[in-house]
Amino acid sequence: ATTHYHNFVVQNTEYGKLCTNKTILTVNGQFPGPAIHVTQGDTIVIDVVNRANQNITIHWHGVTQHRYPWSDGPEYITQCPIKPGGSFRQKIVLGDEVGTLWWHAHSDWSRNTVHGPLIIYPNNTKGYPFPKPDAEIPLILGEWWKSDIQAVVSEFKQNGGDPNVSDAFLMNGQPGFLYPCSAQDTYKLSVEYGKRYLIRMVNNVMNNIMFFRIANHTVTVVGSDGAYLKPFTSDYITISPGQTIDFLLEANQPPALYAMAAKAYASAATYDNTTTTALLQYSTAAAIPDLTTLPLPTLPEYNDTASSIGFTGRLRSLASADHPVDVPLNVTRSLLFTLSINTLPCANNSCAGPFGERLLASINNVTFDSPTTAILDAYYKKIHGVYTTDFPDDPPFVYNYTENFVPQLLWTPSNGTKVIVLDYNSTVELVFQGTNAVSGIDHPMHLHGQSFYVVGWGLGNFNATTDPLNYNLVDPPFQNTIAVPVRGWTAIRFRAVNPGVWLLHCHLERHISWGMEMVFITKDGKGPGENLLPPPPDYPKC
Ligand code: C2O
Ligand code: CU
Repeated sequence: ATTHYHNFVVQNTEYGKLCTNKTILTVNGQFPGPAIHVTQGDTIVIDVVNRANQNITIHWHGVTQHRYPWSDGPEYITQCPIKPGGSFRQKIVLGDEVGTLWWHAHSDWSRNTVHGPLIIYPNNTKGYPFPKPDAEIPLILGEWWKSDIQAVVSEFKQNGGDPNVSDAFLMNGQPGFLYPCSAQDTYKLSVEYGKRYLIRMVNNVMNNIMFFRIANHTVTVVGSDGAYLKPFTSDYITISPGQTIDFLLEANQPPALYAMAAKAYASAATYDNTTTTALLQYSTAAAIPDLTTLPLPTLPEYNDTASSIGFTGRLRSLASADHPVDVPLNVTRSLLFTLSINTLPCANNSCAGPFGERLLASINNVTFDSPTTAILDAYYKKIHGVYTTDFPDDPPFVYNYTENFVPQLLWTPSNGTKVIVLDYNSTVELVFQGTNAVSGIDHPMHLHGQSFYVVGWGLGNFNATTDPLNYNLVDPPFQNTIAVPVRGWTAIRFRAVNPGVWLLHCHLERHISWGMEMVFITKDGKGPGENLLPPPPDYPKC
């Protein structure tokens, strides 16, 4: 295994899109940020230097970081932010992850511009479990706001309603030819007829699951979230914020110029109904003068839940001798988490929620209060008063979670900085239950520090007697982010063998801002190699 050294200088950089210039936060002046290339099992050492005028942290999304949560990055969970002028040397030790993961800022909404792909090649003995690609290309879905992202955040935090939507979706930093003033800013993927490409897709959109499609081409999906999948073909992709999808693209169509397009899947009211476009250009194809005449691929409708869950429901682990599954068959800790949108009264009913109230979000009706010092630091040093260990295993009230009109008296959350403590080696089953309080919506749930097996999902209320009979314990996909369907449920299983402090949250940024987060603390085991390693010397202080 190799150790890779990189410098990440976080700085303000001037960028222009959609005919306006603005200053954005970047790493090393790049947007999207630099791609990191490694081989399975390598180590990455990143010197993060903060030359901006705001706090920052960098998260390694989907990396297990066994026994070493100190570099995980979520602000006030595993570390205090790196202050302006400060620096932090992060050490990231890779385990079995292979394929595509990514890194992003984990401080308010700064991941909007501070993010990049983490490309993990298989080690030589195993190689790819699919035909070798001729080239590999990262494709990052993102967003552009004309206004300053911090201003977007503080505005909706103040008015208590939904945030503004962005001004454009992006592919590899470019809006494409359908937005005003953007025809020049179109990402082009150049291919040669007869060649095979591995596309490594990352969704860094802030608040939307996305649909993606290439005109005239079907693709073969081979991986997601740093694990291989049983290959399947599809003419479109559904991808959650936080998720990665690896797919093979064969350049086997008549050499020409084709459009690629992506737009939001939106199961609730506020969304951006625009489409970002890019080009797939065969080397022998002529350019065309007016891109708006190029036929677009037909994407599923914005509210097409069947297409969204239809794609996600097809993911299966490879489950081969080289890539076995290790899904826990017996469960020692069983959790049921409701995911809800909530409201809280506001002075003079002056907020932008449905009845003049403030919008919030919760898990088991607990809205997460961010502490002002890192939970991991408090846990390690046994500092009291930062968090409590009483996060509920089950919802506080049992009701018909997905009925059309959830009584308004159930909309009000409680709050706190509550964690669940897991014994080392416990086998956890966690059922996420979406609710229809205020409004139902899909929640892409992300767990730090370990991937999990997605053993079941369905629409409506989870039935603890009958639904487990249909679990997939043979080849469930191994994910770190999973979209819980609107007014539906998803069951995951994992083994708690990574001592430390690990955040669980919805990867829709507005839901995080509203408090849809909680924390697991996995205790040390008693055996050798089962304890938390000590913190690094330059661990940031609050
Ligand atoms: Cu991709 Cu907690 O984040
Ligand atoms: Cu959510």
